[in-house]
Amino acid sequence: MQTETAGAGSGGPSGARVKARFEGVSKRFGEAADAVQALEPVTLDLAENAFVCLVGPSGCGKSTLLNIMAGFETATTGRVLMDDVPVVGPDPKRGVVFQQGALFTWMNVLDNVAFGPLATGKSKAEAARIAAHHVELVGLSSFARRYPYELSGGMQQRVGIARALANDPEILLMDEPFAALDAQTRELLQEEIKRIWQETRKTVLWITHSIEEALFLATDIVVMSARPGRIKARFAPRFAASSDPAVVASVEFGRMKAEIFGLLREEAIAAQRQEAVR
Ligand SMILES: Nc1ncnc2c1ncn2[C@@H]1O[C@H](COP(=O)(O)OP(=O)(O)O)[C@@H](O)[C@H]1O
Ligand SMILES: [Mg+2]
Repeated sequence: MQTETAGAGSGGPSGARVKARFEGVSKRFGEAADAVQALEPVTLDLAENAFVCLVGPSGCGKSTLLNIMAGFETATTGRVLMDDVPVVGPDPKRGVVFQQGALFTWMNVLDNVAFGPLATGKSKAEAARIAAHHVELVGLSSFARRYPYELSGGMQQRVGIARALANDPEILLMDEPFAALDAQTRELLQEEIKRIWQETRKTVLWITHSIEEALFLATDIVVMSARPGRIKARFAPRFAASSDPAVVASVEFGRMKAEIFGLLREEAIAAQRQEAVR
């Protein structure tokens, strides 16, 4: 098994520069007897250009970790560094996409995507150019003047991704962005996001429940334990570099999938026991 403890200074499997780091980040919600220890101290490096997938049972603290990196939530102990600078709040350098795209319902697709560039001081013409480029990148040029209610769930998620990319973030934080989509839409979008990642080379932190999705997309897979979440294992699959959707049929893919499935199953059982004694 390709596990490694993620110590400070480890630059990820490729030895690349560290873009961002969770340094002893723990989280406790609430006070005294009602407190919930959501995360044990987590130390994890995101190498520059890495596509890091977090997998783990429900309630293990995945969203909490992502929200701390986004600057929406504060750590109880430890800190998050981006380019060695502590994160103290939200920043357009970190683009966030959630499961359900929080699009502005009163704006068409182009205006939704242009919103960020306008808010950061770009001229109208420049914001429109940036928006058109990113709407094209996610394959929605012919829907540019449509409103969110006119779009399918998959299209709405594409707009959410275009909107995040339009701010030219250095890190993309994606919390189960495809979880609400049907299987076929999801597979197509996975291929698209892979192409976009290969083109733009952003550093990505991606949460998913799907082992296949993680294996198909990630350069690093981080398996978390049941709550309180900690890092249980890490994998470095080699399928992110391939554009061939058929990689999922390879022996290596199947072997890693079985191994991660086994690890997650143990944690899902542990999480269920926790629910039972609550
Ligand atoms: N704002 C909050 N207040 C209290 N408890 C919370 C809050 N947010 C999350 N939790 C708890 O922290 C744990 C981790 O939650 P979360 O990060 O959402 O898990 P995941 O995304 O892995 O499903 C859960 O037990 C959840 O109930
Ligand atoms: Mg979550």
